[in-house]
Amino acid sequence: MNDFSRKEIIDILRDDTLNSWLFNYADEIRQKYVGNEVHLRGLIEFSNICKNACKYCGLRCENKNVERYRLTPDDIVKTAFEASKIGYKTIVLQSGEDAFFSRKILCNIIENIKNFDVALTLSIGERSFDDYKAFKESGADRYLIRIETTDKNLYSFMHPNMEFENRLNCVKSLKDLGYELGTGCLVGLPEQTIESLADDILFFKESDADMIGIGPFIPHPQTPLKDAKQGNFILALKVMALTRILLKDINIPATTAMETLNPNGRIIALQSGANVIMPNVTVSKYSSKYEIYPNKPCVEDNSVNFKKNLEERILSIGRVISKDYGFRKKTK
Ligand code: 5AD
Repeated sequence: MNDFSRKEIIDILRDDTLNSWLFNYADEIRQKYVGNEVHLRGLIEFSNICKNACKYCGLRCENKNVERYRLTPDDIVKTAFEASKIGYKTIVLQSGEDAFFSRKILCNIIENIKNFDVALTLSIGERSFDDYKAFKESGADRYLIRIETTDKNLYSFMHPNMEFENRLNCVKSLKDLGYELGTGCLVGLPEQTIESLADDILFFKESDADMIGIGPFIPHPQTPLKDAKQGNFILALKVMALTRILLKDINIPATTAMETLNPNGRIIALQSGANVIMPNVTVSKYSSKYEIYPNKPCVEDNSVNFKKNLEERILSIGRVISKDYGFRKKTK
């Protein structure tokens, strides 16, 4: 059995009697194509300042209740150094779309962090082609930019003043520039259909993504979607499992949003197709203010103890902690 058609994907997403088969199959594909290693990526949430107003996100510019912060370039580099010292082989720099971080400032940060023998991932939203090019030339290896949803109408509703076409162009430019490309979607947005989730999965395949992050939508009380229904953990897991089955050798994180909805969410995800975890290494006085959605398990992520604990949990399910950078090893 190989790739599923759109119709098959839709049928599988609709039929919950197939769930254990689906999760086991995704786990087998994971084992066969990316093996037993789990890659840990240290996530630094360096600024919660954002010019956008995504309806689902707690950091949207219209949320006046957020205490905004921005780490200094020095602190970002220091945090990355500390993370590399405790064994992280990838650093992920994530922020809102914060104009303070000019091309020049970011290139400088990237160049400094690349001295620490780590792979570097950026997750800082939409920028110009020339910015992306400059970041790559400074040493950035990977870029995460979720498409969020491929349903154009839903995309426009969720992202005031943003253009779906522009998002697509960013995804394409990043791939063309030679980044390892990470994209992904939210599962359970109001009005999102099963058909559009199938299209999201097919989009991941089509864009030759190297990493896919999938998380359930979690309503934030300080957003216009505060009263909306929460995304379903199992449905998000199914989208993730199908993504593993179709894209095979890519990297897939067990996302924090999954852990938020299920206390064992990360481990369950690791057993249903995922092979990456992105623990938060930002000091907790900041990461607690990086509230994309409520109850994000972040504060306890920050210590060496947390890392040890997580590693023990990973070993206990028969997996090993990777010691390399964790680039995608393409099998075809
Ligand atoms: N629930 C779940 N995930 C969210 N994100 C933003 N807001 C929410 C929310 N309320 C996700 C988006 C974004 C990533 C960094 O966080 O998909 O790309």
